[in-house]
Amino acid sequence: MKFFLDSARPDEIRYAMDFLGIAGVTTNPRHVQAAGKPFLTTLGEIARLVEGSPLTVSVEVNPHHEQAEAMAAEGEKLAALSPNFVIKLPATEAGFKAIGLLKGRGVRANLTLVFSAVQALQAMRLGAFYVSPFIGWKEANGEPTLQLVEEIVAIRDQYGFATEIIVAAVRNGRQIVEAAVAGADIVTAGLAVYQEALDHPYTRDGLRKFQQFWDQTPYE
Ligand code: E4P
Repeated sequence: MKFFLDSARPDEIRYAMDFLGIAGVTTNPRHVQAAGKPFLTTLGEIARLVEGSPLTVSVEVNPHHEQAEAMAAEGEKLAALSPNFVIKLPATEAGFKAIGLLKGRGVRANLTLVFSAVQALQAMRLGAFYVSPFIGWKEANGEPTLQLVEEIVAIRDQYGFATEIIVAAVRNGRQIVEAAVAGADIVTAGLAVYQEALDHPYTRDGLRKFQQFWDQTPYE
């Protein structure tokens, strides 16, 4: 079970590489905007951070593209910036087609904005490297999410697809655990989600108690 960081901020990525043992990074237009620099500048900084590592960095093509060839052409250009880059394509007709176009050019695709199992199935059939169901966005609309992840995992296992499943837009530790129990390969979440999920008041209380005992005991 791999943890990816959902961020385009180099400082957060460096921190998560050091302290979380992340295996990858997922970016999206919102994260790149939040990084505060031009798109290619931010991508260049991230590329340098992960250079020589096995971390993948998912990078989204211009979301205004409506044609598969335009998506593939930009994806190919972005993938040339770093061997770590995987190209995010939307789960639209053109996005599905672009998976194959990129595959033919040796570029890996991450199908993003996935909200149904049939979208995931199509991405896997077409050879996407990653498929990203957005559970947090579904949950925000009052929709159940666990069944979606379970169905995608079951389909992947049933047919032996090589695609890895990224459970995306994860908001809390419970969702990380549910994704792990369901058999997802990866979760991606923001730094604060991991920090809050890994923190526990009992751990902090216990540590304080042990510190008191420690202070009352001679070392030698
Ligand atoms: C994943 O690849 C997406 O970037 C991400 O999870 C989107 O959700 P969020 O930005 O709302 O967390």
